[in-house]
Amino acid sequence: MSMIKDDNHSPMISNHPLSSNVDRVLISNREIMVRISELAQEISKDYAGEDIVVIGVLKGAMPFMAYLIKEITTPIIMDFVAISSYSGGTSSTGIVRFQKDVEESLKDKHVLIIEDIVDTGLTLKYLLETFKLRQPKSMAICCLVDKPARRKVEIPVKYVGFTIPNCFILGFGMDYEESYRNLDFVGIMDPQTVQRLQEEASKVLIVP
Ligand code: IMP
Repeated sequence: MSMIKDDNHSPMISNHPLSSNVDRVLISNREIMVRISELAQEISKDYAGEDIVVIGVLKGAMPFMAYLIKEITTPIIMDFVAISSYSGGTSSTGIVRFQKDVEESLKDKHVLIIEDIVDTGLTLKYLLETFKLRQPKSMAICCLVDKPARRKVEIPVKYVGFTIPNCFILGFGMDYEESYRNLDFVGIMDPQTVQRLQEEASKVLIVP
């Protein structure tokens, strides 16, 4: 596991087309790629000789999952769920919504759930409970980023890319109001920036 601190990272590259509201780089693209290879090796070793159903939690897991599965050497079946405990902005509502279910049967299968970030843990708790009823052979969670300081429920996360402090991040699948998912690094949006964006958004007049 890699621990990341929000103190020694480079300032935003000012000419990046998406950089205007991103305050700092927290995890560089190179760090992400190296860590994904390590995770893929670990997963390939743990599941050697077994098939896995790899389930990505949309939308955030998509970039992480795309790179991860390319380096997993055991046979996989890919599937996706869409579920969210967020209504937008930067804070969890605690409301879990199931928008898209998997297409595969999970009975007697090894299930590996892929998430971008584990925050309160509410989303994954709901998924684990739901999938358990389908009698998989095993279930494990793999996330790119873990933010343990904000956990509300205990969940077992077997494969963690990076453990970070309590800050709001975006990029590599993670969003602010659906934007920034296509940044190729993980950046920080400071609370002051979030506040400014929220104030700007509230000033937009809707003319009937
Ligand atoms: P949880 O149910 O609170 O663990 O929330 C998990 C989901 O919240 C993730 O899949 C993300 O979509 C979102 N999320 C949590 N923290 C952040 C963040 O710092 N940036 C962007 N999205 C986040």
